[in-house]
Amino acid sequence: MNKLVVLTTLFLLISSGCITAPKQDPGSPGPAQIGASYSGSELCRFCHPTQHRGWAQSGHARMVVDAKRFPEAVISDFSLPGNPFEVATEFGPDDVILTIGGKWKQRYVVHDPEARAWRLLPAEWITATGSWRPYNADKWNERDYGDLCTGCHNTGYEPKVHAFVEGGIGCEACHGPGAAHIASRNAADLVNPKNLEPERAIEVCAQCHIRGKNVDGKREDALGYVPGEKLLDHYKPLEPNIGQETDAFFADGASKKHHQQYQDYIQSTHWTKQRMTCTSCHAPHAPTLLVAQGNEVCTSCHKPQADVQEHTGQSVVTDCITCHMPKRATSATEMDIRSHTFKLNQPGPAPKPPYGE
Ligand code: HEC
Ligand code: HEC
Ligand code: HEC
Ligand code: HEC
Ligand code: HEC
Ligand code: HEC
Ligand code: HEC
Repeated sequence: MNKLVVLTTLFLLISSGCITAPKQDPGSPGPAQIGASYSGSELCRFCHPTQHRGWAQSGHARMVVDAKRFPEAVISDFSLPGNPFEVATEFGPDDVILTIGGKWKQRYVVHDPEARAWRLLPAEWITATGSWRPYNADKWNERDYGDLCTGCHNTGYEPKVHAFVEGGIGCEACHGPGAAHIASRNAADLVNPKNLEPERAIEVCAQCHIRGKNVDGKREDALGYVPGEKLLDHYKPLEPNIGQETDAFFADGASKKHHQQYQDYIQSTHWTKQRMTCTSCHAPHAPTLLVAQGNEVCTSCHKPQADVQEHTGQSVVTDCITCHMPKRATSATEMDIRSHTFKLNQPGPAPKPPYGE
């Protein structure tokens, strides 16, 4: 099946409400504590169908998919050289229980019943090149998906029982646990980020669009944080050292690694001077996650396209983001993630002045 058909099928399956990831590691005791406060996005759908419809088509909803129920979520070719089963010989394609991502790259989870662990297979699929790349091939069977990734890729993960309520970024990842609200139908029983002060509102997104360590020093996600709280009480982000290139940042402060949008963004004048939040440009329930298309995201506030010629002196006009959000950070292939510092004259693949020669 071609990729577009697969994705469209997935959209339909998700928007018709069929997709739920397996609730627990089949080898763990049972999701006793879970579900007490988290309910899953399906329940929200009954009363908020509009938000649910858009969200279900966004990358957030499709982040983690139950590969047993929806094998079409697997976009890779397990027969190509470099495939993970060359190293993980005890497993095969039929053992994949979860797919993670697919826009930039796709990783796979299998269940190891002996260790009662979720293993991340030792190769990842690079979508842009259609090929395999080794992924922690030397220590893949020492790592556990639950310990490493679930706070950023799942909703309602409970480490004590090694189980989660929902695969992907569900409603409750941004609105907090919803059981009390479902019972009361009272808006005060969960969080609407719109009503938070800007610092707390961007932290709702930053809980995942960030890189650093949980204050316990062990996890790299912010597990334990609930929307509305102060993120920095739970999490210590890596910080750029302006003037010096580090492992995660360029010398001008922009990110070299992916999922660091928060660290980029808090350096921008959109934030430091205007206290604009992520939702000034991103619509959380739209399939594209954007408030508008193309330059309109910017020209709702900035002068339109015609002025670009004036301010850059260039006759061939490209999108605002080509120059102002150049691709500099890396997820799957070199520089495939845009900068969010909005600093002027950033280096990178973007054209640099003088323009129009
Ligand atoms: C049984 C129906 C019902 C269900 C299920 C439900 N809600 Fe609501 N929700 C409501 C009603 C009614 C309101 C408006 C309450 C008010 O205005 O005081 C509301 C308000 C909200 C608001 C606040 C809107 C605002 O204007 O501030 C959010 C956010 C929200 N719901 C999210 C959710 C999420 C997330 C879920 C799933 C966990 C969910 N709801 C499940 C009925 C429901
Ligand atoms: C990625 C984070 C995120 C996810 C996931 C998310 N929301 Fe929201 N939601 C927000 C934000 C942010 C706002 C406030 C929007 C604004 O500032 O106008 C909001 C607002 C709302 C509102 C108030 C009315 C509105 O549309 O502004 C409702 C109701 C709501 N969300 C329901 C849901 C439901 C139901 C789901 C799941 C199907 C969901 N949300 C998933 C972030 C999220
Ligand atoms: C619980 C973790 C989590 C939260 C909370 C979260 N995100 Fe995300 N976000 C992710 C992950 C994981 C992806 C990758 C999804 C994919 O692969 O398509 C992502 C992807 C995105 C993308 C790119 C999607 C695409 O398909 O191109 C945007 C834009 C985005 N998030 C914005 C936001 C904003 C704005 C908020 C807050 C309102 C937010 N996110 C909250 C985890 C999160
Ligand atoms: C601090 C939060 C965080 C942690 C921890 C984290 N991720 Fe992510 N990851 C994200 C966000 C946010 C994105 C999407 C935005 C980006 O890449 O800039 C993402 C992107 C991805 C993608 C690419 C998605 C796509 O559609 O191409 C994969 C695959 C992935 N993560 C797997 C993992 C795995 C496996 C782990 C654990 C070993 C992990 N991540 C740990 C936040 C996190
Ligand atoms: C909600 C309104 C709004 C939106 C949407 C918006 N901006 Fe801005 N932007 C501003 C304001 C206001 C400033 C001035 C900041 C200041 O006080 O210095 C600004 C400043 C800037 C600057 C100058 C930064 C500097 O360091 O001098 C750039 C570049 C920029 N914006 C690009 C963009 C791009 C590109 C987009 C679209 C992706 C965008 N903006 C969307 C309001 C907005
Ligand atoms: C070809 C690259 C390029 C494109 C395309 C471009 N810009 Fe710029 N822009 C620049 C450069 C370079 C500067 C800094 C000029 C300087 O240093 O004085 C700048 C400056 C700015 C500034 C801050 C200075 C000012 O004029 O207030 C804003 C805001 C801005 N651009 C917005 C936009 C928007 C909105 C778009 C899309 C409609 C856009 N730019 C398209 C290269 C570009
Ligand atoms: C001024 C507008 C603006 C603000 C504010 C903003 N973004 Fe973005 N963001 C964009 C645009 C434009 C894109 C590129 C969309 C595209 O490629 O079509 C983008 C892309 C992304 C992506 C996808 C990664 C990529 O490189 O394609 C993620 C994830 C993301 N934003 C998260 C965030 C988060 C989290 C915040 C808040 C901390 C935020 N953004 C604030 C405009 C903004």
